[in-house]
Amino acid sequence: MSIPLCTANDEEEREESAPSTKEPENRSVLDTEISRRDFVKAAGVLSAGVASGAPKLNAAQQAKAAAETAPQMVTLTLKINGAPHALTVDTRTTLLDALREYLGMTGSKKGCDHGQCGACTVLVDGRRVNSCLTLAAVAQGAEITTIEGLAHGDQLHPVQEAFLEHDGFQCGYCTPGQICSAVAVLEEHKRGDLSTVSWQTGETSAPELTDNEIRERMSGNLCRCAAYPNIVAAVRAASMGERS
Ligand code: FES
Ligand code: FES
Repeated sequence: MSIPLCTANDEEEREESAPSTKEPENRSVLDTEISRRDFVKAAGVLSAGVASGAPKLNAAQQAKAAAETAPQMVTLTLKINGAPHALTVDTRTTLLDALREYLGMTGSKKGCDHGQCGACTVLVDGRRVNSCLTLAAVAQGAEITTIEGLAHGDQLHPVQEAFLEHDGFQCGYCTPGQICSAVAVLEEHKRGDLSTVSWQTGETSAPELTDNEIRERMSGNLCRCAAYPNIVAAVRAASMGERS
């Protein structure tokens, strides 16, 4: 003789078909509007939706999303080291990538690609910028100078010579950025620009380019080889027009 099993569904059936022993006014709104069975069904549908991923975009939404992320190409002419260079790039292309990947000028280095190391420093209208944070399209019309453009033929720039003579590098990866930055530092100092050190020392009128001033003004350029003492010596020598 088999014993009839009472399943959860049977129990629900009985609960729903049995007359309520409670007075209608004692039942909560939830009791009256959502049965346990309805709740279980709704939960099943919901979990199936979650398991299948986010709701699918309709065709119009997909087309809009694709249009928003599609590359927008632009044709530019960049004046680099005195010569015009035409190139067609995605509008999001950085100046660093335009130089390295499109024009083959690999002197400017990509260290962090986040504006933190200074390896990509170039001069734009005489001011030093992190080319990894500068859009190529924004640099159109400006005079761009990279490490390749500092020397005149075989004649190195005085800052390049000073770095050689004072051993201002080890692996050399940061060096193009260090040299471009140092060239700008000397110009900034010449025109009387101040640094944090100038304010700390009170030398706010034509401050002397001390080692502390050089360290502060070059602090945006990191060197993983820690060639800092020799970099400072090179910048100091260049500022004094020394050659040894
Ligand atoms: S690569 Fe541009 S700051 Fe590091
Ligand atoms: S010389 Fe190697 S990172 Fe500066």
